[in-house]
Formats: sequence, C-alpha cells, structure tokens
Amino acid sequence: MARKTIIAGNWKMNKTAAETAAVINELKGLVADVTDAEIVICPTFTSITAAVEAAAGSNVQIGAQNIAWAESGAFTGEISASMLKETGVTWVITGHSERRQYFAETDATVNARTKAALAAGLKVMVCIGETLEEREDEITNAVCEIQLRRGLKGISAEEMANIVIAYEPVWAIGTGKTATPEMAEETHAACRSVLTAMYGEEVAESVRIQYGGSMKAANSAQLVGQTNIDGGLVGGASLVAEDFTALIKNAL
Ligand code: PGA
Repeated sequence: MARKTIIAGNWKMNKTAAETAAVINELKGLVADVTDAEIVICPTFTSITAAVEAAAGSNVQIGAQNIAWAESGAFTGEISASMLKETGVTWVITGHSERRQYFAETDATVNARTKAALAAGLKVMVCIGETLEEREDEITNAVCEIQLRRGLKGISAEEMANIVIAYEPVWAIGTGKTATPEMAEETHAACRSVLTAMYGEEVAESVRIQYGGSMKAANSAQLVGQTNIDGGLVGGASLVAEDFTALIKNAL
C-alpha cells in the first residue's frame, strides 16, 4: 500500500503567536502546490489559535506538541484533548524525547496521552528513539520495540489509521548529527517488523514512520527516499518557511 509522505514541523518552544502567524502565512503560499505530502506544523500551545487561523483553507495542518491524559481536573499546566479540539488542531505529538528527558514522560504516560488524543478524534505522531548510549550498547532495536509495544498498548488495529510513528534517534536531535539514510532505514524496517508482529502485515505496511533528527533540505531526499521512511518530524529546519519548503520539496 502506498503511504503518503508526512512532513511535520515541531516548533518546540519557539515563536510568539504573531511570529507563528507570519511564518505560516508565508509557508502556505510556498507549499500551496504540494499535493504529494501532508504538511503539519506544531507550534507552542499559546500560538495554536493564531496558527489555525493563518492556516485556514490551506494544505497546512496544525498540531499540538503534547496532550493531557485526563479530561479535566487537578493537573496544573496540562491541556486536555477537548481543549485542544476546540482550538481546531487535528494532530498531536506524544512521547517526544525532550518530554521524556526533561518532563519525566514514560512509555506509560505516552500511552495514556496517545489514547486520550485518539478518543477525541485527534491524529497522533508517537515519538520513539534510542539515546547515544543505547545505540553504542547495540540495543537500538530493543529500545524501539519496548517503546512501540508499551506506547501503543491497548491501541487497536483500527486506531492505527490515526497514528504515525516518529523514529527520532535522541543523539541526532538538534545536534546536526543525522543518522545515515541506511542506518535510519535499518531501524525503520525493524520498527515496521514490530508493528507487523503487533498488528499484522496489512496494518504495519500502512502505518507511516517519520524520521526525525537534524533533517534538513540537504538530506531530506536521501532519507525520505528510503523504503521505510515515510516523512519527517523536523525541528530546527522547520522554523523558516523557505528552508522548510525546500526540505519538503526535495523529499518528494
Ligand atoms: P531537529 O529536531 O530537527 O532540530 O533535530 C527534531 C525533533 O526534535 O523533532
């Protein structure tokens, strides 16, 4: 089954609402002719409304960078699925390595957040990936398998239609170090095998697996050209409309 390329910009804690609107206004013009890829921008929470307004009527979709597992209650600093739905976002990122590293995110909380998003009808980019130490210890595939099995626990084959996996080697995020296309492809293929074991071949072949970690215009073609790499989750190189457009167009 042909998998449609999906390229998402994770803007992390960058850009005010005004800056967000300005970049999306520029981006939507530059990518208006792109039909072979889904394009998603995930701004910080306070910029989401401005982003949704700026992207209205274009082929740029908007997502959030996190979501609460609970629907309401005493969870200071969290934002629930219905609150996000109300803003007009259609996507959510769960399990980003920065959340795991700095905010004590675990596979169990990633799982709970992902389920909350699915229950609200949001689509989810679930992030997985090994640290440098884990790669050096040659346990990359094992780490990814654990993160996939625990992160997707209890999520049905039908629900997998609304899930994208983002494989992001932690050592490649924001470091300028990219996994070579061959190295990334090997791990993507291993992740797809895990999905096959969990959901069967038909579902596994239909799930998109993005690569993330220092993807840029100069390497997106080679990375997305690999059989099992179906797009990208892009940090730094998604912040400037022209750079992100070049990255997207080179990948197609
Ligand atoms: P980077 O970030 O492209 O800046 O390496 C990727 C990510 O964290 O999603």
